[in-house]
Amino acid sequence: MNFTGKRVLVTGGARRIGAAIVREFAQADAEVIVHCRASCKDAETLVASLPHRERHQILVADFARPGAAAELFRQAGRVDVLINNASLYHRSRLAEGDEADDREHFEVNFWSPLALMRLFAAQTSLAEGAVVNLLDQELGGPSPSGGVYAISRRALADATRAMARELGARNLRFNAVAPGPVLPPVGLESSRMVKTLPSVPLHRPVKVKDLVDAVLFLAGNDSATGEIMYLDGGQHLFIRE
Ligand SMILES: NC(=O)c1ccc[n+]([C@@H]2O[C@H](COP(=O)([O-])OP(=O)(O)OC[C@H]3O[C@@H](n4cnc5c(N)ncnc54)[C@H](OP(=O)(O)O)[C@@H]3O)[C@@H](O)[C@H]2O)c1
Repeated sequence: MNFTGKRVLVTGGARRIGAAIVREFAQADAEVIVHCRASCKDAETLVASLPHRERHQILVADFARPGAAAELFRQAGRVDVLINNASLYHRSRLAEGDEADDREHFEVNFWSPLALMRLFAAQTSLAEGAVVNLLDQELGGPSPSGGVYAISRRALADATRAMARELGARNLRFNAVAPGPVLPPVGLESSRMVKTLPSVPLHRPVKVKDLVDAVLFLAGNDSATGEIMYLDGGQHLFIRE
């Protein structure tokens, strides 16, 4: 797929990894729809810095609210490429979780991206289309504190493969990237990476550019569908206890 003139929706696109994905698609001549929730000032600054800034659009939605993702998609108009990047990440042991937090994780990390994928697939006029879901290397098995976050990511991995199988005949492709440590979570900058890196065979964080390249590769490669690509320095190879 050539991205020139393609409409690309990036959820959680205002900051961090999402913003890097937005920049790369804009450089590739796409029209980018940047979704944000709380970081809409950042989204405005980002869009102002993009080539052909007038082509791009900002849309706001809180995916913790059921129905918000569907409203967002309706406002977006045609979407040729969907990047489900927004996510909620609280670490907890499953036995100690609370139900409200569990439900919020599933709203943001599973139900909302699934609703977006279904509405994407309902665009019967698309001759080609691609979805890339951002997941996590924790797909490999339950980690000591992955909690419901990791389960919500695995659910989306299954949905990615199911959609790939169901919709390949319509030239709609569904892939995912499963990153390891790229950027530490906000508020855990000093501790999280230091703890994690010894369990990564390459002993270094994933470069944002490498991750973004993988997202654009999967979105653009006409033969790739149903692929879950680990981009984690080999972290998924460790057997978890
Ligand atoms: N960072 C890493 O090392 C790492 C590792 C493994 C996997 N990943 C995955 O890679 C992707 C990007 O990572 P990241 O660290 O850049 O993500 P992040 O900063 O944790 O979150 C990305 C965006 O998600 C949006 N978001 C959160 N809750 C939302 C809600 N209720 N409704 C709508 N949007 C919501 C936020 O948008 P606003 O700021 O506008 O509220 C946020 O900027 C995520 O899917 C993450 O799970 C990242």
